[in-house]
Parts: sequence; C-alpha cells; structure tokens
Amino acid sequence: MNVLVIGSGGREHALAWKLLLSNEIDRVVCIPGNGGTATLKGCQNADLSVEDFEGIAALAKAEKADLVVIGPELPLSQGITDALQAQNIPVFGPTQAGATLESSKAWAKALMREAGIPTAKSQVFSQAQKAEALAYVEEVGAPIVVKADGLAAGKGVIVAETLAAAKAAIETLCQGELGEAANTLVIEEFLTGQEVSVLALTDGITVRPLLPAQDHKQVGEGDTGPNTGGMGAYAPTPIVTPELMARIQTEVLEPTVAVLQKRGIDYRGVLYAGLMVSPQGEPKVLEFNCRFGDPETQAVLPLLKTPLHELLRACVEGRLAGMPEIEWHPGTAMCVVMAAGGYPGSYEKGKPISGMGDAEAEEGVTVFHAGTRLDGQHVVSSGGRVLGVTAVAETFECAIDKAYGAVEKIHFENCYYRRDIGYRVR
Ligand code: AMP
Ligand code: GLY
Repeated sequence: MNVLVIGSGGREHALAWKLLLSNEIDRVVCIPGNGGTATLKGCQNADLSVEDFEGIAALAKAEKADLVVIGPELPLSQGITDALQAQNIPVFGPTQAGATLESSKAWAKALMREAGIPTAKSQVFSQAQKAEALAYVEEVGAPIVVKADGLAAGKGVIVAETLAAAKAAIETLCQGELGEAANTLVIEEFLTGQEVSVLALTDGITVRPLLPAQDHKQVGEGDTGPNTGGMGAYAPTPIVTPELMARIQTEVLEPTVAVLQKRGIDYRGVLYAGLMVSPQGEPKVLEFNCRFGDPETQAVLPLLKTPLHELLRACVEGRLAGMPEIEWHPGTAMCVVMAAGGYPGSYEKGKPISGMGDAEAEEGVTVFHAGTRLDGQHVVSSGGRVLGVTAVAETFECAIDKAYGAVEKIHFENCYYRRDIGYRVR
C-alpha cells in the first residue's frame, strides 16, 4: 500500500513513521515533508506546496496512492479533500464544509449550540458591530476571551485579564491586522481548569477517541509567556478518567458528528476537541480542530498498537463501526519540543543538528523532526519548532527522564526547550 502524507511538521513525520511500522505499507511520500521524512526508510519527500491540489492529485495517481492523509488545517479549509475526491482519490481528512469546524469559530459555536454541547457562553459580532462588542465586554466584565473567527495561526485568541485589555483586543482585531480572519469576532466567557486534547477518528457516522493528551501551549516554564504551536505533550493524561472519556464521547463527540451528518457534511478524518476540564471535572469545548494535533500526535501515535492505516482506511471507507476496539501499548509517552531560540518571535534557521542518532539509541526514544531540512548529508534547522523528542516508558516519571536524557544528547546552536514538560503528571 502506498500513502501520501501532506504537510511538513512533527505531526506528519509521526504519521509517516507510524504508517511505515506496518509491513503492509510499501511507501510513503511526504509533501513537502522535512529532514525527518527525507531520511526515514521507505519514505521520501516531494517538493510540492500543500496548496497545489492539482500537483498533489497528479502525484497521487502516479504513485497509485491507496490513501492521502492531510496533516494541516490550511489545505483542508481550502478544499483539498473535495479536489482529490473529485478525482476518485481516497482522502483522510474532512471536506471544506467539514473543516469549517476549525476555520470558523462562530460556525463551530452555532453547531455546538444546536447540538447542546457544553462550551463557554459567547456572542458573535461583525466588524461593523464594534460598538456593540465593546459594550458587551463592558457589560460582562473581565477576564474575558476575544477571538478572531477565522484561521490565524495561533494569533487570533486574546485572553484578556482586564477590561482595558479586552477593549484593546477588539480594537486591534478590528484594525485588520489578521485580514479576513477577524471579519467576525467571537467574545466568550473565560473558563478555568485544565486543557486536554481529545483527538477522535470518525467516518462521519461512528466516532472513536484516541488516548487523551495534554500539551503545553506557552513558551515559558510554568506555562508562562506567549502561546506557541505547542512546546510538549503527553498521553494518556490521567485527568481524563474512563468516566470523563465516556462523557466526552456522549456529550461532545457523538452529538458533533450527528449534527455534521444532519447538515449533510460527510466528515471523514480527525475530530479534535480542545476541552477545558473544570476543577469540578466538567468538560467544556474550547475549540474544535479538523486534523491531528501537533505535538499531541507525536505523543499519542507511539502508543497505538492497532495498525494506523487500518483505522484511517476504515474512516475513509465508512467502516469504522465494524472495526475492533482500538488497541494501545501499555505505558505513557512524553514529547519534549526543541525549538530555535527566540521562537515564537524571530529566530535563526540553518543550524546543523547533531546527536539525534545517540538520542534514538535509547530504547523507546523517537526523534520526530518538525522544522528541519536536509542540506546535503546534514540535517539543519528550518523552523521555530525544530524537533519533538518522544520517549515511551511505563510511568510518566520514567518517560520524562528518558525524554530529557535524549534531549541532552542533541545539539544545535541557540536551542531552547522547556525543562518542565509533564510537570502536572510527574
Ligand atoms: P482556541 O484556539 O480557541 O483553542 O484558543 C487558544 C487558547 O486560548 C486555548 O488553548 C486556551 O488556552 C485559551 N482559551 C481559549 N478560549 C478560552 C476560554 N473561553 N477561557 C479560557 N481560556 C481560553
Ligand atoms: N497542539 C495544538 C494544536 O495542534 O492545535
């Protein structure tokens, strides 16, 4: 079986790596991939843009691809699935209509209301209703959360601690810095608790959760400083007990899929629920994503025992209900992200990376590449998040020690990583 994986991050390296652990996978082509997918046995990169749907369709045909797996939200929101399906290419990832769940927070909120899904109270305002938006925050008070409706690469959400900050956020978003993404604003109630990521697989009818994960969004230790794409992740998080997971299944995942179905949306891919679990253990949806999480995927997939391609194919072919229960390896996984100093602000690229082989010599350690590329024979950095070093071990304590032991063997100039990944489960 041949598979195309679209994207270039740690998530896509983890997907390609996991797929290739099965003897049934002959070849994976990653578009455009990174230094990790370039050097992974059985995998190669194709230098195409994730937005070049015609080029990707042609390559899928030339490769006789049995499956195309879409990593990032951008091509999904632009309709890559619709474009490939129109040429009878099997795709894992929702259509453009399904991807609206991530690409419009106002749309997702309306769906949650219709489905009765627990989420923060909110109001939607167009840019033309700026005065009403300002009056609304005045009425509700701080803390309050101001969000741009559309995709904004992590820059569209402002958690305002004060009324002044909330008003400033409305003004900034209305000034048009984020372009169309902020044409509509969603202003919502501030929630407290712990965030968890539940990535679920669905064929549009049946929905099956993967192990619950937690990531560390902020750049600084103790969860401080600006938000990033994620500085580390682990699974399975103990705060999602089997009882809580059962509630998430019946109160969040199933009703979401049912409403999508009712709207005529054929959603085959990942339904990722970003949840806040209150101190009383009540789950509320913060956001939905229409794709695998990054770096959650790098922590969840190493524990997956059921062959990944069997699950993805079952989703694409509408046979998830007939699949046996998803099986997992016992134990825990911890992923520590190594970033370029300065990230998420400006940072340097092109730094040679050494020590990855030594790091992986330790059993249970896998180094997933994110922002890397092959420069001749050498792997060099090419992005903000450079590597995700994942360790699998019996307990979180051991996984943390093992992951950091591996991180210490890897070097590149001006490397930065948080030293407290997993502090909640230590
Ligand atoms: P989102 O993209 O909507 O998940 O928001 C990005 C981040 O902002 C989340 O991961 C949370 O840390 C924070 N956030 C979003 N909505 C809320 C909320 N209603 N209350 C508290 N924090 C929030
Ligand atoms: N780790 C957060 C995300 O993938 O959106």
